[in-house]
Amino acid sequence: MKFSLGLLVLLLGAALVAADRDYEGYRIYEVIPSTIDQAKLLHQLSFEGFDFLSESRLLGHPSQVIVSPEQLEQFQQLLEAHQIDSSVVNSNLGASIAEEFAQRQMQRLLSPITGKGRLSNERYYNHEEIINYIDDLAKRYPHRVYVKTVGWSYEKRVLKTITITNGDGKAGKKVIFLDGGFHAREWISPAAVLYVIDQLVEQFEQNAHLLQDYDWVILPLVNADGYEHSQTGTLARMWRKTRQPYNYAGQTCYGADPNRNFAFHWNEEGASSNPCSDTYAGPTAFSEPETIVVRDLMHSLADRGIMYLTIHSYGNYLLYPWGWTSDLPDNWEDLDAVARTGAEAIENATGTVYTYGSSTNVLYIAAGASDDYGYYAGFNVSITMELTGAGSIGFNPPVTRIDEFVTETWIGIRAMAEKLLEMY
Ligand code: ARG
Ligand code: ZN
Repeated sequence: MKFSLGLLVLLLGAALVAADRDYEGYRIYEVIPSTIDQAKLLHQLSFEGFDFLSESRLLGHPSQVIVSPEQLEQFQQLLEAHQIDSSVVNSNLGASIAEEFAQRQMQRLLSPITGKGRLSNERYYNHEEIINYIDDLAKRYPHRVYVKTVGWSYEKRVLKTITITNGDGKAGKKVIFLDGGFHAREWISPAAVLYVIDQLVEQFEQNAHLLQDYDWVILPLVNADGYEHSQTGTLARMWRKTRQPYNYAGQTCYGADPNRNFAFHWNEEGASSNPCSDTYAGPTAFSEPETIVVRDLMHSLADRGIMYLTIHSYGNYLLYPWGWTSDLPDNWEDLDAVARTGAEAIENATGTVYTYGSSTNVLYIAAGASDDYGYYAGFNVSITMELTGAGSIGFNPPVTRIDEFVTETWIGIRAMAEKLLEMY
């Protein structure tokens, strides 16, 4: 019997999509397309069971992809046949994940967390610790900080926003709405958002100008269930989606991609209708309680909404609408100016290069994401920030580098907020 390469890849992929795996012997490859044909070919793999950790359509830009032992031979043949520039950045993902968990357990034993006072940049926190932290801030700074329960995840974890003001009591200020933790495995995202909270609250004097005309509403962890799941053990470390169960062909697959679940050109492009896929759009738009929470926040804030900013990882990108079409919105030059300001501030400070542009043109077309929805709902500016993703797991800096990356992120966010002050 003779299978075509495509079919074989498809069959292998289908069996592997979105299951809990131990990643023993899995590799992470970095691939760099130099022709449009190579870019197309690589993009095609993302529909055939290959898990891309970062992906760009720009020629000469690296994408990273997980390759299982079963996929390896076909994958290597493909690279060879099309002469695609590649390198192995991790030769055993399973070992790296196991090492990360061992370190994590050790750290928890050696220095347990009290949940009070400032958080350090020396570890990744869990849902409960994040909630305790913002609750404690609200107690300590009652005149400037306000915490509100905005809903519950599918598994009934509480979702809370923290609103940060300068305490002058003026109502109706413009709003910057920031969120993190859409995708479970992107642990650096909530870490970076916690650092922004720390800067605006604890370092208030230095940042008072950012709170003069704006209030900041921050939802540090959108996908609480997925995030907790990704911390339960090595098998679940690469989890991306929410955790609501869906039946498919006699099996149960969990979760929808919260960043494909918004009701704006929902499921038209770059999303999957298969519940077992990592980019499952959900059975309907807003099938997930977590995306309903973000939607309702957006609508309640939109008439004051100056910027919606959502933090993901990784790839070093500042992306603006649209993600559902390659067309650009009317005020794209404003969006571009804000993104450029963030990118330049980071590059000047640390040398890290962020690429900016519309998400369809820089990454790939993908509809139903929160950035498009926020812009459509009425925010003047809407940006997805894909942070740095150094580290052997592909996601997330080792804990020793969290500090470096969250401080860098803050430099970019602060510069964008200052630019908005000039513009609006
Ligand atoms: N990596 C993000 C995701 O796949 C990028 C989203 C960019 N925005 C968009 N509208 N496609 O969810
Ligand atoms: Zn993401």
